[in-house]
Amino acid sequence: MRVKLAAGNWKMNGTRAALAEVDTLVAEHGAASVEVLLCPPATLLGAMAERIGDAQIAVGGQTCHPEASGAHTGDISAEMLADAGATYVILGHSERRADHGESNDMVRAQARAALAAGLKCVICVGETEAERDAANTLDIISGQLAGSIPDLSTGESLVVAYEPVWAIGTGRTPTLDQIGEVHDYIRAELERRFGTGVGRSVRLLYGGSVKPSNAADIFAVSNVDGALVGGASLKAADFGGIIDALEQA
Ligand code: PGA
Repeated sequence: MRVKLAAGNWKMNGTRAALAEVDTLVAEHGAASVEVLLCPPATLLGAMAERIGDAQIAVGGQTCHPEASGAHTGDISAEMLADAGATYVILGHSERRADHGESNDMVRAQARAALAAGLKCVICVGETEAERDAANTLDIISGQLAGSIPDLSTGESLVVAYEPVWAIGTGRTPTLDQIGEVHDYIRAELERRFGTGVGRSVRLLYGGSVKPSNAADIFAVSNVDGALVGGASLKAADFGGIIDALEQA
């Protein structure tokens, strides 16, 4: 049985004042029947982890450097994320791939480092609108999966998030059939590469304009084990609505 996961990606949003949202989330969803994860900017990781205390909400980073330490100004290693209280890290988000040129090879190296540091990885894949229009979606996903995911002996430490680039922050989402097609495809690819046992234990999240009003429909799609939520994770009321929908799925 895969444990469902509601993951919030705060991106470059939030100062200490935003931790008030976390207090609300802890009060209302601190003992949810699904796993809840918040990935704030690195500056807030330690404070957020402290604020969450013993509640059942995990915190994670939004990227990491492949090396443990060294002369890499501005970068943060997986060990540092873990030291600050993180148990997860998002890797290969399309904004990192686009803004920082992070290639599949880079994401794979980051994932190896993260796993070695004991973090679980949320590896993001997804096509651009031009790639979907050209009917290349599954080829793009296949290449990103093969290139970005390191060899694994267990699936529990890996989460794959399908995030169509054109659906991120736009209010547009694929049809439920389109989401199902990609999620079934990702599951088949993982089973082919890692074997059925490992392939079936990897959780698959949908991401891109998820909100309380569309979450229940998306969670009913086959092979959707939860969501990676951007904008709607910033407010406890919205993210809470998504957590509720996942608990009821
Ligand atoms: P969004 O972002 O929910 O704001 O569309 C999702 C993401 O980028 O993870």
